[in-house]
Amino acid sequence: KEAENQMLVIFGASGDLTRRKLIPALFELYVRRLLPEKFIILGAARSLMSNEEFRRKQSDYLSASSNISLNSKELGSFLELIYYVAFDTDNCKEYVKLKEMIVSLQKEKDIPDNIIFYLATPPAMYEVIPPFLKAVKLNVSLHGGTRKIIVEKPFGTDLKSAKRLNRKLELIFNEKEIYRIDHYLGKETVQNILVLRFSNGIFEPLWNRNYIDYVEISSSETLGIENRGKYYETAGALRDMIQNHLMQLMAFIAMEPPASFDPESIRDEIAKVFRSLRAFSTHDCHNSVIRGQYTDGEVEGETVVGYRKEKEVAADSNTETYVAMRYMIDNWRWSGIPFFIFTGKRLKEKRTEITIHFKSTPQQFFKGQCAGSSCNQLIIRVQPDESISMKFGLKIPGAGFEVKQVSMDFYYDSLKKDKLPDAYERLLLDAMLGDSTLYSRSDALEASWRFIDPIEKEWMKHPTRNLLYYKAGSNGPRQNLIGPEIFDSGNKTKC
Ligand code: BG6
Repeated sequence: KEAENQMLVIFGASGDLTRRKLIPALFELYVRRLLPEKFIILGAARSLMSNEEFRRKQSDYLSASSNISLNSKELGSFLELIYYVAFDTDNCKEYVKLKEMIVSLQKEKDIPDNIIFYLATPPAMYEVIPPFLKAVKLNVSLHGGTRKIIVEKPFGTDLKSAKRLNRKLELIFNEKEIYRIDHYLGKETVQNILVLRFSNGIFEPLWNRNYIDYVEISSSETLGIENRGKYYETAGALRDMIQNHLMQLMAFIAMEPPASFDPESIRDEIAKVFRSLRAFSTHDCHNSVIRGQYTDGEVEGETVVGYRKEKEVAADSNTETYVAMRYMIDNWRWSGIPFFIFTGKRLKEKRTEITIHFKSTPQQFFKGQCAGSSCNQLIIRVQPDESISMKFGLKIPGAGFEVKQVSMDFYYDSLKKDKLPDAYERLLLDAMLGDSTLYSRSDALEASWRFIDPIEKEWMKHPTRNLLYYKAGSNGPRQNLIGPEIFDSGNKTKC
């Protein structure tokens, strides 16, 4: 399927996301000849700049990026697709100027009236820009064209704000035209969870409470909060990583097979998983969730400051940079099986992986000879070194029956030597093609907030209760405990 000729309008074009993710992804798509034949990128932001200046900036950023293989001829022709309009997004009248620019570019480049609006702005603008687009009738095509709007995360800060944003957007665009982006769904290894589960008959019989002991989803980062103190203070790890990225990973692991492999059937199953999550009681909020915050330390040989000393962070901030959670999914497949999520910043290593821990044999002849409680784990490494490993026990040659846990490993680079496409490449292309499978639907998004809200509320009531500290560069709070055992250590809070 080829994407129809269209225009992409990026709001927040002078920002970090445009420079670091969107333009490089569009360039890669261009190099791989996946962009529509007639295509224009119109950057919109407040800073005064000419087209040439904007192009030069993008070219400098692209040239400085080590991930991109540049061919100067291709770069030159790609830059010709880029235009810029300086305007004040807060001012309704300025949208007339935007509309004129869009219409004149469509005419000049003979591009039909198909437009994607990308909100790469601070979240406060998500409720401002769409009504202004409506005011100048840019939200609908009067010429039989299409409209889509891509909204970056965070989509709301709680259930109430997410609902309000959904309702506001739905007054201006149809649900089918709204693309809520979660870049984790654009990762090859994440999509592959669906293929692994639904193209192989051997996993399905085992993929349930009868054979699985527990599931672990962990995402550790060495990065701190970079220059995003202001945003992070209002988010914390629970909103920044769990409500979206890690819950999406969990949904792919936990969902039922869809009725067919079309976007709505898949999104139905994702929403069902979120609706089946057991709601947290006050007791769970304190005993099944552990939060932490990093202090001064050393990460990858570099001395780094603690969270409270980061720019734009309060010196007495209680924002969590680490969360460990234990929760249950109340449905037939997963009844009684705990799921664990771990995430944190400024940890020892960058690694995102999902481990399915299978139950041990009914009679344990070789007890204690494998690393975990059983010899069998399926490990899906999302990043880095994207891979899938199956662990099992084998006999060490020689006398007796000494067991060793061995691993059958598949590495993605054995399938495709080139680097895996960046998540934004896949997601932008899908939006151009009108495929929303890998974008969040409003009901699923609201269900995920419904699950997270009680925890945030409890933390607001008790800002310092059970807030643990960990040294930057360590494994997190309760040193060296990086698995479920973290919940069995330390003092329990009585509620
Ligand atoms: C972003 C978060 O959505 O995801 C960041 O805001 C986080 O805080 C990032 O670092 C992680 O993404 P990735 O692709 O590097 O795992």
